[in-house]
Amino acid sequence: MPVIPSLRFRIHALPGKMAGYPLRRRSTELEVSRRFRVVSKRAMATGVTRLEVEAPRVARKAKPGQFVIVRVDEEGERVPLTIAETLVDNSSIAIVFQAVGYSTQQMAMLEPGDSLADVLGPLGRPTEIHRYGRVVCVAGGLGIAFVYPEIAGFAQAGNEIIAILGARNKHLLFYMDELRALSSELHIATDDGSAGHHGLVTDVLRGLLEQGEHYDYCIATGPIPMMKATCQLTREHSLSTLVSLDPIMVDGTGMCGACRVTVGGEVKFACVDGPDFDGHLVDFDELAKRKKAFAEEEEYCRLQASADKLEEERRNE
Ligand SMILES: Cc1cc2nc3c(=O)[nH]c(=O)nc-3n(C[C@H](O)[C@H](O)[C@H](O)COP(=O)(O)OP(=O)(O)OC[C@H]3O[C@@H](n4cnc5c(N)ncnc54)[C@H](O)[C@@H]3O)c2cc1C
Ligand code: FES
Repeated sequence: MPVIPSLRFRIHALPGKMAGYPLRRRSTELEVSRRFRVVSKRAMATGVTRLEVEAPRVARKAKPGQFVIVRVDEEGERVPLTIAETLVDNSSIAIVFQAVGYSTQQMAMLEPGDSLADVLGPLGRPTEIHRYGRVVCVAGGLGIAFVYPEIAGFAQAGNEIIAILGARNKHLLFYMDELRALSSELHIATDDGSAGHHGLVTDVLRGLLEQGEHYDYCIATGPIPMMKATCQLTREHSLSTLVSLDPIMVDGTGMCGACRVTVGGEVKFACVDGPDFDGHLVDFDELAKRKKAFAEEEEYCRLQASADKLEEERRNE
């Protein structure tokens, strides 16, 4: 198959982040570290995995809205992920991620008993949780993983939760039972109509607002266009809206500037000033542009991962 060597050559020639590292299951050599052992693994939705990871120090301090930066192995890139759950005995956390590129694919190959090289956190400012009254929570795609701990926190503080959750299709929805249990109303929207409203989460929110529903606060998490559209709508209704941003992050401690966002005309670093911000003040267009900064390198890494898989399959034939 001549395409593989030429593809590999091009990828190895890249100065980018993961160029040259083959996608592979962790070697036993690296698995000797048991610090961040994977306790359990569950498929939550198509391509979405939940890993429970032993990390007692992180678990003891984590609050809703915070995140960790993980590395699969010593050569790995740093991947920011929301702390979706803190397990009751405070010895482990759950991360929920979509295998979108090289590192998340590598992470999805971990099995219980394997371990992550690093789990750094909890990072970021915890979500400011108050008793507002009726809180409408709008989440799309992986935004459901971001919003789940926040909804749990707002519900615990005595707020009534109205959840509006969306995905491309019903196979991409997750945490439904848990969120139903925390909410007085749960609305679903799918792009293909396979579950709930056929359309966008913002259609559902608009419909509810036009019916005269009153909300005291809104949380919106998910893809940038979704958060931007939600904020346009809530601004028209003078409904304060909190968004959780996921810009490119590297160190996660305010040193590198990679996660720079503009909020209310001021420069903020999402890793230390956020990731939650007042959605009515965020410059979403700038954020979208900055998130594409490494698109070419990411595409090369995805090609690398596919080439590695093909090579491995060929070797196993
Ligand atoms: C605070 C925060 C919390 C996050 N929580 C979750 C979560 O709970 N679940 C989840 O699936 N994803 C989450 N993400 C996004 C996740 O970090 C990226 O999907 C992941 O880094 C992709 O890496 P990759 O190598 O697999 O893919 P790549 O091919 O490298 O990238 C795929 C896409 O992921 C984004 N991305 C890549 N590198 C980074 C980086 N260093 N920082 C931020 N985004 C990046 C880019 O938009 C990119 O286009 C979060 C991001 C942030 C900043
Ligand atoms: S990730 Fe480096 S400053 Fe925020």
